[in-house]
Amino acid sequence: MRVIITESADHVAHIAADCVCEALAPGQDCVLGLATGSTPVRLYGELIRRHHAGAVSFARATSFNLDEYVGLAPDHPQSYRAFMNRELFDHVDIDPSRTHVPDGLADPADEAQRYEQAISDAGGIDLQVLGIGRNGHIGFNEPTSSLASRTRLKTLTPSTIEANSRFFGPGETPPRLAITMGIGTILDARRVLLLATGRAKAPAVRNAVEGPLSAMVPASALQWHNDAVILVDRDAASLLQQVEYYEHVENEARRLAAEQCHG
Ligand code: F6R
Repeated sequence: MRVIITESADHVAHIAADCVCEALAPGQDCVLGLATGSTPVRLYGELIRRHHAGAVSFARATSFNLDEYVGLAPDHPQSYRAFMNRELFDHVDIDPSRTHVPDGLADPADEAQRYEQAISDAGGIDLQVLGIGRNGHIGFNEPTSSLASRTRLKTLTPSTIEANSRFFGPGETPPRLAITMGIGTILDARRVLLLATGRAKAPAVRNAVEGPLSAMVPASALQWHNDAVILVDRDAASLLQQVEYYEHVENEARRLAAEQCHG
């Protein structure tokens, strides 16, 4: 795992945008795995800014989102499809027919199978962007999810329902079920980029990076991935024990890159 600790949430967004732009390099097709939630919103804002500045194009991109609430129509304002249209897709040159979000109204078992097949038909995911839940979930893989799981129906934990209820109006019942890529699906991505900001995420980040590999902390499965980047701000990193080492590794990488640059 590569752990990058930055000074602020804006720096996280900036470095994450560099990684996404590298994956979207001109002249190559790219399959992005995308997340919703509050964490990647700054990243999407930065990508839109770079797109408008002519620095990046999504014309050859295909995207697959991690998850969707069961029972929400794509045009429900709190659906993850609506979120993605609003926060990214409507503002860049991605072909809408190549953006994929699980269908929350379809039969969940059929939809899960269809989604796995669509990812495979697209050649697999090149770069998967992830957030992390306070309980360590990735996608909607709640604690005790199988580390080998594939896209499927999941029951959300009361704490996740509670965390999401702020987005639903009074009298609206927040969804209790979701279709989510599995941990095995996520681990198949060629590169994984997990973003975390704020002190509330510090325990989950510590458990994911420095705790044991465990189904109780789904994000700890990334320890098993050979190209996982954990990109955090100081607050989210505040409970990590090996900060000095992570910073040393990044300094060394910069030093080596500079040496190579100067021949
Ligand atoms: C969203 C998703 C979730 C979120 C996680 C963190 O597609 O898959 O795992 O990434 O719940 O959410 P925020 O960023 O709102 O704290």
